[in-house]
Formats: sequence, structure tokens, C-alpha cells
Amino acid sequence: MSIKKIGILTSGGDCAGLNAAIRAAVHRAHLLGWETIGLTNGTAGLLNAEPSYRVLKPGDFDGSVMRQGGTILGSTNKNNPFAFPMPDGTVKDRSDEIIEGFKKLELDAVVTIGGDGSFAIIGELARKGGIKMVGIPKTIDNDLGMTEVSIGFDTAVTVATEALDRLQPTAASHDRVMILEVMGRDAGHIATSAGIAGGADVILIPEITYSIENLTAKIESVKKSGRNFALIIVSEAVKTPDGKPAQMEYADGEKRYGGISHYLCAKLAEVSGVEARTTILGHVQRGGAPTYTDRMIASAFGVRAVDLINEGKFDRMVAWQNRQVIDVPIEDAIKTYQQVDIHGTLVHTARALGIYIGDDE
Ligand code: F6P
Repeated sequence: MSIKKIGILTSGGDCAGLNAAIRAAVHRAHLLGWETIGLTNGTAGLLNAEPSYRVLKPGDFDGSVMRQGGTILGSTNKNNPFAFPMPDGTVKDRSDEIIEGFKKLELDAVVTIGGDGSFAIIGELARKGGIKMVGIPKTIDNDLGMTEVSIGFDTAVTVATEALDRLQPTAASHDRVMILEVMGRDAGHIATSAGIAGGADVILIPEITYSIENLTAKIESVKKSGRNFALIIVSEAVKTPDGKPAQMEYADGEKRYGGISHYLCAKLAEVSGVEARTTILGHVQRGGAPTYTDRMIASAFGVRAVDLINEGKFDRMVAWQNRQVIDVPIEDAIKTYQQVDIHGTLVHTARALGIYIGDDE
């Protein structure tokens, strides 16, 4: 099949490193003599009467853009086209309109930069509309299977580690316990990695149960050792010991995680009279300049994704394994959701460092 024009889109929650991936795909495609079109706001721009897009050229990226967080194309993690929320409160299948939009642009293939949710939805659109697609994994949660790392994770961990570095001196100045709440949805990768790197005394993740008794015992033992402060990092999806998630309902009717640190703070005060403070890091983890690792991985992914199209290999996702980029079926990556391995190296390392990381062995 001869390729002349490809589309690139970013879908789902943004993260740092997306622009570096777009840049690499554009450079590689132009070397092959192809045109590159950036779709606006994931697939949402295709719902306009005239599809919204921008022509991408290598020169657009080589200045400040590749160094920037976010995505110059825009993104969305709402409005599933198969169940699109309409103003009157109903939902409508608008997948045919999006497929129509793809066809109007006369794209020979599409590079989707997304996470499991985006791959599932855009994969279904691609199958329905006969659109040729390859995927590049991005998610600060790092929960996609078949790849050791996704774009955005390294920057998020770096931000969370820096937050612990900044919390430590103020904790020590005031004899306090600082509780840092980080993102990650149902996977505790950010908390585990940043907790180890940032010298946390406690790491709480959704994969491992904990008890208030053992948590306070750990804080007490830190005090007894003569240290006047302690650091706790907790993943947003950690539940109360009786199984309640900390969530808030937003105006769009969606529930999002947030606030488990407040519960822990109150519990610590109640049970052991400890003075604690909370910091919820939130979307700070998604923004800012990408780390060198995210830029490097994103660049390698962008190049290889275009190579896959050139080789006629579709419905595949580029993945990082054993120091190189390989490609795997997108379906397998979605199916093998990756939480923290509770018997793995990092949990073992945390315990060996004396960190309380919960009770399941
Ligand atoms: O999946 C990425 C992520 O940043 C999660 O870590 C977090 O729970 C969620 O997205 C936040 O979503 P939103 O952008 O809708 O606030």
C-alpha cells in the first residue's frame, strides 16, 4: 500500500512528552515523503462540519515545542463517540460522523497517542471504519500492559519526588508528618517509585491493604528513632481500611479520585495525636517540561510508529522492552492492565528500606 498522508492525534489525559512524540512522528514521516496532519482534540475535532486539523511540518517542533508539556493538538478524556453525551441529557452513537471525518481528510493511516481507554475506543472506530491505526502508549499512571514504560510516567515521578524533597525540610522545621497524595488511578506506580526515590517512610498503594494501626506504629517508630518528621506518599485510589474510595463528584457527573490524604491526616491526629499536613499534587504531575527520559522514549516511539505504518503493520502499539522499542498487538496491551507487582523488585526494595508499604506479603 502506498502511503501519502497520515494523521496524528493525542487522546485521553495529557502528560509531558506528547509533543516530543508528535515531533518524532512528523520528522520520520517527512523523511519518507509523507504529509502529516494533526487532528484537534483527539477525535472530537472530526465532529465539526469541517474536520478541525493542522498541517504539521518538522520545522514547527524544533524550537520550544518539543520541550513543552501538554499537547499542541489538544486532547480529551471524555465524550466517547459511541455514547456521546448530548445537550438534552441523552447519549448518541456518533461514531459514523467521526469515521466520515477521517474519510474527508483522506488519511492513509493514523497514529494514536493514548492510553488503554483511548486505544479501546479509537481501535473500535478504526475497525468499524476500516481505518489503519498504530498506537503510542502514554499515561502518567504507567498501567498499560506490554510496555515497561509509557510517555509521561517519568516526568510525573520526577515531579512527585521533587515534591517529597520540598516537603522534607518544612516537615523537619515543624516536627510534622507530611502526606503527599499522587495520581495513578488504580495503579500505584507513581507512589511506589517516587516514595522510594524521595525517602518516604510510608507508601500506600491501591494494590496492597494497610491498617491504621500499622501506619501509626510506623510513624511512632520513626519518632522513637529520634527523627522529628515523617513523609507519607499515598496513591489517590487507596481506600479507607473499610473499603471506601475517596472520590468527588464533578459537575459533569463523573466521579474522580481525590482526598484520601485528608482521611489519613485526620486518622493520624485522632489515633496518635500526630500533627500532619496534606498536599494533593494533582495535575501538576501532568504538566511542565518532560524529563530527558520522556523526551527520549517519546522520540523513539514516534519514529517506530511511523516505521510500522511504512511496513504495513497495523493495530499494533509500540512498546519499550529491554532497552528498545518493539511492537505488540494493541489488544494485548489493553488486556494486560499493569498494576504494581506486589512481589516485585520495588515492593521488596521499599520493605528492605524499612518503608511501610502495607500488609499483604
Ligand atoms: O489517567 C491519568 C490521570 O491523570 C489519573 O492519574 C487521574 O486520576 C486522572 O487522569 C485525572 O483525570 P482528569 O484529567 O479528568 O482530571
